[in-house]
Amino acid sequence: MSGTEREPIGVIGTGYVGLVTAAGFAELGNEVFCIDIDAEKIEGLKAGRIPIWEPGLEALVARHRGRLHFSTDLADALEHARLLFVAVGTPPTYSGDADLSAVHAVVDATPPSDRHALVMKSTVPVGTGDAIKREFAEQGKGGFRYVSCPEFLKEGSAVADFLEPDRVVIGDDGDWAGDAVVELYAPLEAPLVRTDVRSAEMVKLASNAFLATKISFINEIANVCEETGADVVEVARGMGLDDRIGPKFLQAGIGFGGSCFPKDVAALKQLAGNSGYHFQLLNSVIEVNELQKRRVIAKLQKHLGSLIDKEIALLGLAFKPNTDDMREASSLVLSARLQAAGARVRAYDPVAEEEARKLLRGVSFCGSALEAVEGADAVVLVTEWPEFGELDFAAVAGAMRGSLVVDGRNFLDPAAVRAAGLTYEGVGRAAERNGGD
Ligand SMILES: NC(=O)c1ccc[n+]([C@@H]2O[C@H](COP(=O)([O-])OP(=O)(O)OC[C@H]3O[C@@H](n4cnc5c(N)ncnc54)[C@H](O)[C@@H]3O)[C@@H](O)[C@H]2O)c1
Repeated sequence: MSGTEREPIGVIGTGYVGLVTAAGFAELGNEVFCIDIDAEKIEGLKAGRIPIWEPGLEALVARHRGRLHFSTDLADALEHARLLFVAVGTPPTYSGDADLSAVHAVVDATPPSDRHALVMKSTVPVGTGDAIKREFAEQGKGGFRYVSCPEFLKEGSAVADFLEPDRVVIGDDGDWAGDAVVELYAPLEAPLVRTDVRSAEMVKLASNAFLATKISFINEIANVCEETGADVVEVARGMGLDDRIGPKFLQAGIGFGGSCFPKDVAALKQLAGNSGYHFQLLNSVIEVNELQKRRVIAKLQKHLGSLIDKEIALLGLAFKPNTDDMREASSLVLSARLQAAGARVRAYDPVAEEEARKLLRGVSFCGSALEAVEGADAVVLVTEWPEFGELDFAAVAGAMRGSLVVDGRNFLDPAAVRAAGLTYEGVGRAAERNGGD
C-alpha cells in the first residue's frame, strides 16, 4: 500500500454492524466488498435499498455507491481484499451461550491463504479467536491471520459512532494483519487499545455487562425510591455529577433490551460459568432487568384492578428510539404479559411497525399516538421517541377512556400530563414533586 492509497477491505455480513462498517470505511476512502448470504438483502443493496433504519446510513451508502460492492460470493471479497471483517450475527442460544454457527460458517468457507486475515467485529466469547486459529490450523489454513476488533457502535447513532469512536480496540498476534487494521483506523485518530486477542474479546463483553449493570443498579434505586418517597431523577442527577460515576446510563426505566445487552450479559455469565466461575453480580443484573419489565403490570393493576378487557396503549415498540430493531425489546414481554392478564393491546411506533408485526401477536397497530390512545384505559410509554415528548396531553385525555399514563422511561413532563387531568406514574418518581399532585 502506498501512503495515499487506502486498502480495499471485505465485510462479511451486511446487518447493522457490517453495513455501517462498510459505509464508514468507504467514507474514509476504502473500496469495500460486502458479502451476505441473504441474496434478497444483497439485491436490495445493489438497487440502493437499505434494509435497516439507521439515521444517516442511507445517505452515506448513496454517497459512496462507487466504492461499495455487494455480492453473495465470498470469492469477490477474497479476490480484492486482504482483510475480511466478520460482522455476522451471534444470537443467544437457549442456554445463553452465543450461537457461533454463522461465524463458523464463515471460517469453513475461507480457502487456505497466506494473504488473508479474518477481523472479528462480531461479539464473541473470550477464547473464540484461539479456537478459530486452531480450526484454521486443523483445516490446513494455518496461513490465515486473525484479529479481534470488537464493535462498540450504538444503533440510532451508529454512523457517528463509527466515525468518532471513543476508542478502537484491536487484539492480535503482532503480525501484518494487526498492523493493517491499525492503519485502517488511523484516520479516525481515536484512542487505540492494541492488545492480545482474548483481552480484546473481553473488553467488549465487559463493557456491555458494565453498562447493563449500571442500568439495573439505577432501576433498583428507582424501586427503592418508590418505597421511600425519593425521586430517582433527582437522585440520578445528583449521582451523575460525580466524575467517577457520570450521568450516562443512569436513566431508570422498564429495563434494557436490544440485540446486544441481554445476549452479551448472558454470554459473559455463561462464559464465566463454563470456566468454573459463578458470576453472581450478572445473575442479579439479568434478574432485575426481567422483573423491571413486569413492574409495569403491577402499576397498571394498582390503578385499574383486573386487566381483563382493559384497553392498553403502548407508545413505542422498538428497544430504543431511532432504530427499528425489535430484538429483545421490552414491548415484547409487556404485550405478552398484558394479553396474558386479559388486556387488549393497541400500539404505535413511528418506525418499527414492520419489524414489530413479525414478532407481536394479537396487537392492534395504529398509525399515530393519538389513534393508539383512542378509548384506552391506560397508556404506557415504552420507547422514548422524541415525538412523544411533543404529545398534546389535552388531546390524549380527550381520546382516552381512562386517565392513567405509565411513563416507562421517565421521559414525559409529569406536570404537563397531570395538567391535562391525567394520572402520571413514572419509574421511581416521587408523587409530590414534578408539578405535583
Ligand atoms: N447491532 C449492534 O448494535 C451491535 C453493536 C456492536 C456489536 N454487535 C455485534 O455485531 C454482530 C452483528 O450484529 P448485527 O446487529 O449487525 O447483526 P444483523 O443480524 O443485523 O446482521 C448479520 C448479517 O450477517 C449475515 N450473515 C449471516 N451468516 C452469514 C454468512 N455465513 N456469510 C455472510 N453473511 C452472513 C446475515 O444475513 C445478516 O445480514 C453481532 O455479533 C453483534 O453482537 C452488534
